[in-house]
Amino acid sequence: MQQEAIQEITQAPTLEALQQVKTKYVGKSGLVTKELGALGKLPPEERRARGAEINAVRQAIDAALQEREGILKRAALDEKLASEAIDVTLPGLPLPAGGLHPITRVYDDLIGIYQRMGYEVVEGPEVEGEHHNFEALNIPWYHPARDLQDTFWLEDGRLLRTHTSNMQIRYMVEHDPPLKMVSRGKVYRYEATDATHESMFHQLEGLVVGEGISMADLKGTIAEMARGLYGPTAQVRFQPSYYPFVEPGADFAVYWNNPRGESKWLELGGCGMVHPNVFRAVDDLREAAGRDRIYEGMTGFAFGLGPERIAMLKYKIPDIRYFYANDPRVIGQFRGELG
Ligand code: DAH
Repeated sequence: MQQEAIQEITQAPTLEALQQVKTKYVGKSGLVTKELGALGKLPPEERRARGAEINAVRQAIDAALQEREGILKRAALDEKLASEAIDVTLPGLPLPAGGLHPITRVYDDLIGIYQRMGYEVVEGPEVEGEHHNFEALNIPWYHPARDLQDTFWLEDGRLLRTHTSNMQIRYMVEHDPPLKMVSRGKVYRYEATDATHESMFHQLEGLVVGEGISMADLKGTIAEMARGLYGPTAQVRFQPSYYPFVEPGADFAVYWNNPRGESKWLELGGCGMVHPNVFRAVDDLREAAGRDRIYEGMTGFAFGLGPERIAMLKYKIPDIRYFYANDPRVIGQFRGELG
């Protein structure tokens, strides 16, 4: 029986087959087990010798089972490893890459230029009070910019800011001069949209206040920005213009070489010397908040411009609405572009 069992064990082709052999011989009702059970029926003088004999058989079978099990397990593992092998030299699956939105990229360019000139960068609320958006900026109630057509009003009397100039007021109430800041963010106007008009767009506002700040400082600053954007030969042009919160006020344009090789004036934004009424309104707000009146008699300049304009020309995007329609055919072109 031992020989037979060992032959069956060494020939068992799989672990399952081996288990069957094991059951057959040493299982609960296996052949060896039965022999052991039959010991009790033998006369006592034969029991000892017979018992030793069966135990030896059992040990030989157990040892053979163990050895065969080890061999079969190793073989199974080898097979599994071989079938699950990964070819690490295969190319990976490409991950869809994100990218920075063109408006973000233009903002980064602009803000980099102003940070190098030592400006603080701040952001502010898009839901704003009438006072900060209009009154304190010397825009009286009868000014056409306050028409219902221009402004999104909230039911509680607040509004969506129509420009980032509100941050001039907020910043001066909180900070003492001398100061240099730029503020970025979204602005809103209630108007019909077309290729160059959106009801939501972006602005960059700048403000510098101190003693003896002049129009020459303003022009030099805008020229520095133009060179930062369009290279060392870029020029700027100021044209007189009217904004209630500056006096004198101007529109500024940058002379640049467009992609067709033509030189063109690009109207970029408005600017001017901060109006004394703005300083007075800031001092009033400061006084109400328990702060010193400190701005009366100061000088300063401010400017505001829209990054959409720059981005449309830089990236040849013909319609402002493309920036925000989230059409992957447009925005997907900026994948992987991180600045
Ligand atoms: N807030 C103006 C607008 O939205 C832009 C502007 C003009 C900002 C002149 C200024 C400025 O700071 O001095 O049209």
